Amino acid sequence: MKILASRRFPGPAWAELTDVDYLAEQLPQGAGGRRDEVDALAIVGERIDDEALDLFPSLRIVANYGVGYDSIDVDACAARGVVVTNTPGVLTDATADLTFALLLAVRRRVVAGDRAVRNGSWKGGWADPDFLGKEVSGSTLGIVGLGRIGRAVAQRAEAFEMRVLHHSRTGGEEGWRELDELLAEADVVSLHVPLTSETHALLDDGRLALLRDGACLINTARGQIVDEPALVRELVSGRIEAGLDVFAHEPEVPRELLGLPNVVLTPHVGSATEETREAMTRVLVDNLLAVERGEAPPNPV
Ligand code: 8YV
Repeated sequence: MKILASRRFPGPAWAELTDVDYLAEQLPQGAGGRRDEVDALAIVGERIDDEALDLFPSLRIVANYGVGYDSIDVDACAARGVVVTNTPGVLTDATADLTFALLLAVRRRVVAGDRAVRNGSWKGGWADPDFLGKEVSGSTLGIVGLGRIGRAVAQRAEAFEMRVLHHSRTGGEEGWRELDELLAEADVVSLHVPLTSETHALLDDGRLALLRDGACLINTARGQIVDEPALVRELVSGRIEAGLDVFAHEPEVPRELLGLPNVVLTPHVGSATEETREAMTRVLVDNLLAVERGEAPPNPV
């Protein structure tokens, strides 16, 4: 099976694939024209739409390195009989951990404190008011999206003695709130929904305005779930604070955020641990090998 890959993925599982070519640059240009011999794409972040699919008439599988597959037109793939797979499960803990890293960093001014220690502006004794954070224990966390990652975040929040509210489409479980109620009630709101046409700009300017003064928004999901210009306005005003791992047009980050003390920024590293990235490769490769054997892959989307 001829595989065309965005890159060499980390970990030993990748070596189990015998016939791999690498994209020279992003699709569609990176394919270098029509590729009749390609059976499989192993991709991360590539846009897969009709234009890209036209280049690969023999394609059987698009294997996505990541749980979120919003860059792939799944209907267009299905119409051509191409199966799409992702890497769920193995990145749940790493992403939930990063969510908490951002939450703690924002609430306890970790980055501002680190900067002050390094540049010598820390004067010792009582902490500067700039380093006075907000208590995490006892505060209310609102989780938007109670899937695998949302639940892992809830587990961690309980260990921190936070009160946990959540919103998901199904509802019913204890702590469930309508989205608008959750936004108005939580001290910290964390996003864990996939990016779809329904969740695009789910937090628009009206919804962001529902957040309490001093509330904190954590986004380790997808930038486009939030109306980014509206979020920037709220953050520039200083009314709320945020920990952001994802942005609407990565790797571009709104310039206005770069000097703000009420924001902690990370470069889309939710799944970025050695162990998790290797485990994601294992899952990606298992899906490719299943299709090569003519079997149903374990993780179709
Ligand atoms: C990225 C992710 O795919 O799983 C997801 O949805 O966003 C990440 O795991 C990964 O970071 C590679 O960019």
